Amino acid sequence: MAVRALLHYALEVPDQTVGEKFYRSFGLVDQGGKDDAVHLRPAALARETVRLYGGPKKRLHHLAFGAPGDEYQATLQSIRRAGIRQVDPPRSAPDGGVWLRDPDGHLLTVRDEGPEAPPPDPPLRLNSPGHIGRQVERGAPEAGTTASPRRLGHVLFFTPDVNRQLDFYTRVLGMKLSDRCQTIIAFLRCTTDHHNVAFLTSKGPGFHHASFEVGSVDEIAMGALRMQQAGFEPGWGLGRHVIGSNFFYYIRDPWGSFAEYFHDLDYIPEACAWEPRDFPEGDALYRWGPPVPDDFGLNRELEG
Ligand SMILES: [Fe+2]
Repeated sequence: MAVRALLHYALEVPDQTVGEKFYRSFGLVDQGGKDDAVHLRPAALARETVRLYGGPKKRLHHLAFGAPGDEYQATLQSIRRAGIRQVDPPRSAPDGGVWLRDPDGHLLTVRDEGPEAPPPDPPLRLNSPGHIGRQVERGAPEAGTTASPRRLGHVLFFTPDVNRQLDFYTRVLGMKLSDRCQTIIAFLRCTTDHHNVAFLTSKGPGFHHASFEVGSVDEIAMGALRMQQAGFEPGWGLGRHVIGSNFFYYIRDPWGSFAEYFHDLDYIPEACAWEPRDFPEGDALYRWGPPVPDDFGLNRELEG
């Protein structure tokens, strides 16, 4: 029993137009839609991955997981068995699915759907010692190249109780712990990605970032450059994480949270002997990259 896909996240934001401009500059495209939300998606996918609703301040509106067929029925049973009360869908919510709240009060929906995989890229053609992937051809990206996120990979939330969230998402939704750093942060998966949801300790709940896969380290950097040119403040990167191993660049969004480009995340097949590690605090965040901005771990939803 488990959810099998992270389908989309929805935020409430004070200005949907500003939010739409941010995510379009980031590389997502408008999905359209007849309701009062802005719907965005990676160009290569049919389904939305980001929804923006109007609201007084930035916060999570809801998070959508998919569980196809029998997995959906089993997830419903697990929710009932755990004594979790189903709640009414919010106004202008996507049709279908079951709605519930996690222990931090985040609104969740689980839908009878599987993941949607983007078309595969051709293999990267890199030259490395003893392996020539590209010859008689220049490798630097063209000027003006930008990022085109292929898919949503994960979301990270603040929580006042990492263990309580870990218990709920593993016991009720069937996710697996991939790695953690004590009770500071925990990374969980419901797909072959190293993580699809992570929880970072804070004094209260909040949305920290969402992360999208791109095709190369060049694409991360060119996307970051384009975002700087579009007037969005740089966040943090380029660097390489320890937990999950991905190359990263975080762009600060208009509300003090982040959108991340990632590439080369650890891949964990369903049936394998992956042992979660509990990393020491001093060696959990990044292997290399610029210094972490002072406010990177700041939960701005607790302010005001
Ligand atoms: Fe991330």
